Amino acid sequence: MKKRFLFVVVFIVASLVFSGFIFAQGKKIPANGAAVWDHLKKEGYAKKWKMWPGTTPLYKGPEPHGAFLTTYVNDAAFKAITAKKGKFPDGAMIAQDNFSKDKKLKNIDVMYKVKGYNPKEGNWFWVQFRTDGRIISEGKIDECIKCHVAQKGNDYVYTTKMK
Ligand code: HEC
Repeated sequence: MKKRFLFVVVFIVASLVFSGFIFAQGKKIPANGAAVWDHLKKEGYAKKWKMWPGTTPLYKGPEPHGAFLTTYVNDAAFKAITAKKGKFPDGAMIAQDNFSKDKKLKNIDVMYKVKGYNPKEGNWFWVQFRTDGRIISEGKIDECIKCHVAQKGNDYVYTTKMK
């Protein structure tokens, strides 16, 4: 009797762990500023993510982003850039820290690739945060797209060639 009870307990625990694992694997961050911020914090992007290949911390940035920039990418984005895929896959995320002339962090600009979100304009979700996570703007932001569309052939990004 005791043995059977133990078996049942082990079985239940194992299935909970397994379903938790599956859930975590399939969990997708929605195209939503608050959810993206939450994700960036949890990931510790500025400590754990790689920098955009070929860039260094606080490189000189062009306007409008800031005098200095540090650009982080998640794994999916990193792989696409290094493999010269030409395009980013669903789930790719780029977080750019924007600094003022005196190297103070001003805000964080993010591009997040979401399948089906905006097929006409590269399926990017755009969001700009203040340093404490408050959202300045998010979504299909005209201002961002108007400028980044010049890089349409490079999947809307400027930093380096995607091919
Ligand atoms: C007037 C043009 C312009 C506007 C407007 C603009 N950007 Fe950019 N953006 C750039 C340039 C140029 C770079 C390249 C900076 C670098 O060297 O990394 C860039 C880089 C980026 C990057 C790093 C990936 C890349 O494209 O190389 C992100 C993320 C980004 N911008 C997000 C945004 C968001 C979000 C907005 C709107 C709130 C925005 N941008 C508005 C010109 C612009």
